[in-house]
Amino acid sequence: MSRAAHKWTSAEIPAQAGKLALITGANSGIGYRTALELARARCGVILGCRDRIKADAARSRILGQVPAAHLEVLPLDLASMESVRAAAERFLATGQHLDLLVNNAGVLAPPHRRLTRDGFELQFGTNHLGHFALTGLLLPALLSPGPPGAPTPRIVSVSSIAHRGATMDFANLQWERGYRPWPAYRRSKLANLLFGFELERRLERSRAAVMSVVVHPGVSNTNLFTAGPGQGRGLVAKLVPAFIALFAQSDAQGALPTLYAATASDIRGGRFYGCDGFRQMRGYPVEVRAETQAYDETLAAKLWQVSEDLTGVKYQLPENHP
Ligand SMILES: NC(=O)c1ccc[n+]([C@@H]2O[C@H](COP(=O)([O-])OP(=O)(O)OC[C@H]3O[C@@H](n4cnc5c(N)ncnc54)[C@H](OP(=O)(O)O)[C@@H]3O)[C@@H](O)[C@H]2O)c1
Repeated sequence: MSRAAHKWTSAEIPAQAGKLALITGANSGIGYRTALELARARCGVILGCRDRIKADAARSRILGQVPAAHLEVLPLDLASMESVRAAAERFLATGQHLDLLVNNAGVLAPPHRRLTRDGFELQFGTNHLGHFALTGLLLPALLSPGPPGAPTPRIVSVSSIAHRGATMDFANLQWERGYRPWPAYRRSKLANLLFGFELERRLERSRAAVMSVVVHPGVSNTNLFTAGPGQGRGLVAKLVPAFIALFAQSDAQGALPTLYAATASDIRGGRFYGCDGFRQMRGYPVEVRAETQAYDETLAAKLWQVSEDLTGVKYQLPENHP
């Protein structure tokens, strides 16, 4: 960890007027708080959400606090490649430049193995493959010229301290054998890190003026725990959400690493930002180290190839992009 002394808060977000951000899962938790604070800083925000009613409710809540906010809803179900492609096409058709993509949406540890529309294990499919495809498809909007003097566009992918101890078993990537909810979540969050770091290396190699960073929100009190583990039947299903409600930091605090990575001027591509408190579970944004295997370039290259094969999305990054 470094730079722990300064307690960065959302009050330090630089003015974002003229910028446009797309946030996945922006109707709830970390994504909602990120949308709210970016809107407050006058960033235009597109709420990428799968549930229109929840998305409209989130939009209304933000407008209640920031009446001048520029907000749009983009229907997006990351558990469906058809939906991901339709969302990307719809955005690209507007011809707008994208300054910020926040790959935030996520699902945690459903008690039984579930599949996306395309037959991927739900967590790997939603948390990683959906965002892998979305990012690749939206790259033209991030690479397109922004207004003169605009800062480098950023892609912020939300991982977790739960990436620690994950296994990337390519022979059983979709957990056809021996599904376990938490290890499957860990794998999807390690995938977020491998992807975010590999994306930065590829952007650098092609000299593209886009930056990729990864963040984690510590442990924050959001719907994640009731929507996932809370769906089980045993004691754990009751205890996990109760424990989180009692001990986790707020969603607003948990959104700070994302907001910091998205807007601060001292952010560097290929870095990981989390929380400065006890075991990184809470606190203020700070650069952190991921587990060693997250920096494994061979593993990342393999995951990239597998992800392209599974999603059918091939990244268009020309060598020496101007
Ligand atoms: N909370 C924590 O302590 C914690 C810790 C580490 C990492 N994270 C990460 O933080 C991110 C945000 O989670 P959160 O804690 O804010 O949880 P949350 O409140 O449950 O928000 C998750 C968001 O993802 C959306 N989502 C889920 N599946 C989707 C799909 N198929 N397509 C589109 N959107 C989908 C949800 O939409 P619906 O409302 O429609 O379900 C919701 O908007 C996740 O990536 C999570 O892994 C959270």
